[in-house]
Amino acid sequence: MALLEVHDLYKEFTDGKTKFAAVDHVSFSLEKGECLGIVGESGCGKSTTASLIMHLRHADGGQIIFDGKELNNKTVKGVRKDLQMIFQNPVDSFDPRYTLLNGVKQGLRYFENPGKEELDRRAKEAIRYAGLKDSYYNRKIYQLSGGECQRAAIARAIISDPKLIICDEATSALDVSVQAQVIELLKRLRREKQISYLFITHDLLLARNICDRIIVMYKGAIVEAGTVKEIMEDPKHPYTKLLLACVLKPRVDKNFQFVNCDSIREPAPEGCRFYEYCPCAKEECSKKHVKLMKKEGREVACLL
Ligand SMILES: Nc1ncnc2c1ncn2[C@@H]1O[C@H](COP(=O)(O)OP(=O)(O)OP(=O)(O)O)[C@@H](O)[C@H]1O
Ligand code: SF4
Ligand SMILES: [Mg+2]
Repeated sequence: MALLEVHDLYKEFTDGKTKFAAVDHVSFSLEKGECLGIVGESGCGKSTTASLIMHLRHADGGQIIFDGKELNNKTVKGVRKDLQMIFQNPVDSFDPRYTLLNGVKQGLRYFENPGKEELDRRAKEAIRYAGLKDSYYNRKIYQLSGGECQRAAIARAIISDPKLIICDEATSALDVSVQAQVIELLKRLRREKQISYLFITHDLLLARNICDRIIVMYKGAIVEAGTVKEIMEDPKHPYTKLLLACVLKPRVDKNFQFVNCDSIREPAPEGCRFYEYCPCAKEECSKKHVKLMKKEGREVACLL
């Protein structure tokens, strides 16, 4: 049984007078112990997907099953201690009045009341595990550096011994060396505490470093899903190829002939969502709705 199943998730927003689907019939599953990446450019719907799974926002359609239970506004409360989240800007996710110790306690206090001493013990244990010094307990959150603050957010997430942590651009605001330290901490947690991750990032190389499988989103929908090896070494969707070409340009230029995207077309409302920019587009792509299809063991939303 998968730890997380997302079926046909749908969310509309309004842009001026027009409605658009920020999350457009998204389906995927995440196995126990797995680190599943969601990558895609800014605005493609990654954070909205995460907030719908966490029930921080109301979905307009779809079903979410976590650890065998269907989630709704009521049932989600019962599983929140097993389903934690880490955000891009950790400072904003804490109450500024809290000290580190009290901030970390909130990760458990909302869902369980283990008693004052036990709560204190577990918060201190989580803080130590996350690599912060005991002498920091009474510091205010805003008195921590960016990297320390992200460690505090990790401590708050692991205090409840969760099964899954959703990391939404959890290391994007950190400089490269601090980012590497936090990634190592997340990997250690996975090894030692068997925590699974839904790892959201715009950085394909970072996803390669930590994930087992990767989902690529474009304009609210999944355009490709596969193992890290499949996505990084043999991408099938033109958008994935383009994303990869952007990060591995010198190497990939030799293999892919279409890193130039200078022939932008009119969007095709009825057709493929990538038609406008796709270097491989054919006329039929503008007329047919293109869904994620399974073929020869791969999942790709492309007619070719
Ligand atoms: N509350 C809202 N009202 C209207 N539109 C919204 C709202 N929240 C998000 N959007 C829009 O929905 C789309 C998806 O946003 P989302 O935050 O999920 O993107 P993202 O992939 O997380 O991007 P980023 O990488 O920049 O964090 C964007 O076009 C965004 O402007
Ligand atoms: S369906 Fe056509 S336009 Fe869409 S990604 Fe495939 S080739 Fe490009
Ligand atoms: Mg986001």
